[in-house]
Amino acid sequence: MQVRAAVLERFGEPLEVQELELAEPRTGEVLVRLEACGVCHTDLFTASGADPSGYSPTVLGHEGAGVVEAVGEGVRDLAVGDHVVTLFSPQCRECVHCLDPRTNLCLAIREQQGLGFLPDGTTRLSRDGEPVRHFMGCSTFAECTVMPEIALARVSPEAPLDRACLFACGLSTGLGAAMNTARVAAGSTCVVFGAGMVGLGAVAGCRLQGAERIVCIDLSEERLGLARGQGATETWIGGPDTVERVLELTGGFGADYTFEATGHVAVMRQAVESARMGWGLATVCGVAGKGEVLEVVPRFLITGRRVAGSSFGGVKGRDQVPQLVDRWLAGEIDVEPFVSHRLTLDEVNRGFELMEAQDGIRSVISFG
Ligand SMILES: NC(=O)c1ccc[n+]([C@@H]2O[C@H](COP(=O)([O-])OP(=O)(O)OC[C@H]3O[C@@H](n4cnc5c(N)ncnc54)[C@H](O)[C@@H]3O)[C@@H](O)[C@H]2O)c1
Ligand SMILES: [Zn+2]
Ligand SMILES: [Zn+2]
Repeated sequence: MQVRAAVLERFGEPLEVQELELAEPRTGEVLVRLEACGVCHTDLFTASGADPSGYSPTVLGHEGAGVVEAVGEGVRDLAVGDHVVTLFSPQCRECVHCLDPRTNLCLAIREQQGLGFLPDGTTRLSRDGEPVRHFMGCSTFAECTVMPEIALARVSPEAPLDRACLFACGLSTGLGAAMNTARVAAGSTCVVFGAGMVGLGAVAGCRLQGAERIVCIDLSEERLGLARGQGATETWIGGPDTVERVLELTGGFGADYTFEATGHVAVMRQAVESARMGWGLATVCGVAGKGEVLEVVPRFLITGRRVAGSSFGGVKGRDQVPQLVDRWLAGEIDVEPFVSHRLTLDEVNRGFELMEAQDGIRSVISFG
């Protein structure tokens, strides 16, 4: 079939919306008609050429939600008409990591996905007979896409897909960092660095876990306002004195849980240093630049602080994304404020501009 898709032709140049050929789903694969897709930093990171593992031509996009239009042979858990959220972090339910509750890093298709291929080492996307590679196993800046069944979470048909798409990446990452990785205990004090999609999700996750105090720190007053809406009890503008302020607030000890959601290694260090002596846990969500290093004074660790990293919030996507969506539908998570702009596929580059200008939290492309 022919589909319109936003193609990355050359790094550092705008995406080009073109007609591509999309082949039928093969064994274990599913054809999804996209309803909506968020525009995320990782798309921009790759488009800019800053990602050393990037390649072109490819169809970007990985925060998709849509409806199953066809299934390939051997697909067991999805049927035509199902509503799905795409998972750049799949869940095969069979590999050694999927079978272990301690991680969500499924091993089933990592290598081929990283190279831009579906699990059998080929692409379903092409142009004049030339293959066009997939991106993060998703390629959701397109009217339709083909993905492995293990990389799709079936969500409630009640969930509006133009917001459900946010659970495909940043929102689940933040929620999961608090709920899965840190497992925030009720009554605790939490500090969240960064109030973008990931940090705001972490604030909401801390609230759902019953944290008593949630401090959110950002450089933007507007974003701090959104953090209060998600349950932050205090909000501060970040700066070099942030660690001291956290210590002051906590009788000199530090916070039970800290979360870094900025991508800056200097802020990661602040997150470690403002975690409580004895048991404070600093969870790092941000993706730092190539070659950057997180500096930690060992004394902070010896005196009982711990550091954890979190990819996709430790969320096992097929099992847990539907649960998070259900909590949204139950009124426990307010997703509306995260959608700042609605765009068409042709306006995808506008989504990048808005992101670079830090205008709003998420731009969502609606196909329709
Ligand atoms: N681990 C994962 O699986 C995963 C998934 C998605 C995104 N990420 C990463 O998480 C990070 C956050 O993503 P996002 O979409 O929320 O980004 P974002 O750019 O929207 O938000 C980052 C926020 O950090 C704030 N900030 C910058 N410097 C600060 C400082 N010194 N103190 C306090 N706040 C500061 C900015 O004002 C901004 O609001 C990025 O690095 C992104 O690549 C990781
Ligand atoms: Zn993303
Ligand atoms: Zn697996």
